[in-house]
Amino acid sequence: MKAKILTCLKEAGNYVSGQALCEQFGVSRTAVWKTIRQLQDEGWEIEAVRNRGYRLLDSQDVYNQAALESALHTRWLGKNLIYLDEIDSTNTQVRRLADQGAPEGTVVVAEQQNAGKGRRGRSWVGPKGSGIWMSFLLRPEFAPEAASMLTLVAAMAVADGIREVCRLDCQIKWPNDIVADGKKLCGILTEMSSEMDSIHYVIVGIGINVGIRQFPEEIRETATSLVLCTGESVERAKLVDAVLRGWEHWYEVFLQTMDLEGLQESYNSQLVNMEREVKVLAPGGSYTGISHGINKTGELIVELPDGELRNVMSGEVSVRGVYGYV
Ligand code: BTN
Repeated sequence: MKAKILTCLKEAGNYVSGQALCEQFGVSRTAVWKTIRQLQDEGWEIEAVRNRGYRLLDSQDVYNQAALESALHTRWLGKNLIYLDEIDSTNTQVRRLADQGAPEGTVVVAEQQNAGKGRRGRSWVGPKGSGIWMSFLLRPEFAPEAASMLTLVAAMAVADGIREVCRLDCQIKWPNDIVADGKKLCGILTEMSSEMDSIHYVIVGIGINVGIRQFPEEIRETATSLVLCTGESVERAKLVDAVLRGWEHWYEVFLQTMDLEGLQESYNSQLVNMEREVKVLAPGGSYTGISHGINKTGELIVELPDGELRNVMSGEVSVRGVYGYV
């Protein structure tokens, strides 16, 4: 009921009479009024004017189950959406749900993560009120080898979402960091449960720094947030919706060929390392070269000083710009 009334007020963008809400949802005026009070208690600024009705004031960052449900305009992703005030890690929570049989498209969003996970066993800072920490569940039928490409698909979705909602010109640092002003804005952690030749499920975890103004010492030079880049606050529920819609779009393109053929051009046009010198930190030693973007399986093509082309696989190595983070 809360999500329905909220959606109605958002779509109207103007006053909606109490009577109209009663009729639309088949409930009493008291029930409408009580729901409005609950929404106000959750932080929504709703104006109530005699003889005109209720009006929702513009762009507010209210972040909870009803706010997310009413913001969501996806076709299948997030139809089962779970909002949590606090959790260890949304990836871990999706894994628990997956093991209990949760359906494909289940999304977990948390206001705060106490044991957020980053790539390569690192931790991820997920403080309250200042980010989007979310994960979703896929149950794909393709071979496990293809799953590593999904993290690049997710990078496309996040970059599109940020551009759409925040009008910020962000870029992708191969394979899947989103950067702005040369610093990291978002990280993606894809995890998989599989057998030799089949996938049980895949978890795509996305962490976007939204309102963080001060980062811990260790990452101060390399991390940034949307508020630091744009100076504006963000309606997180709207950004969640845009990223999930972006995923639906690019995942469909991916499924047509089971590789990145249909994404390659757009991905490379957003690549911060494109035609720039990169340092490849491989287990057997590091080397530098010029990056020519990804091929259709998501490997980074790096040209060595002697002209040799190497296809660099994500997971095996880390690529850094020669100067600074990117
Ligand atoms: C990275 O190291 O760049 C990946 C960071 C991924 C962080 C996100 S936040 C939501 C989801 N839950 C986690 O525990 N990690 C991912």
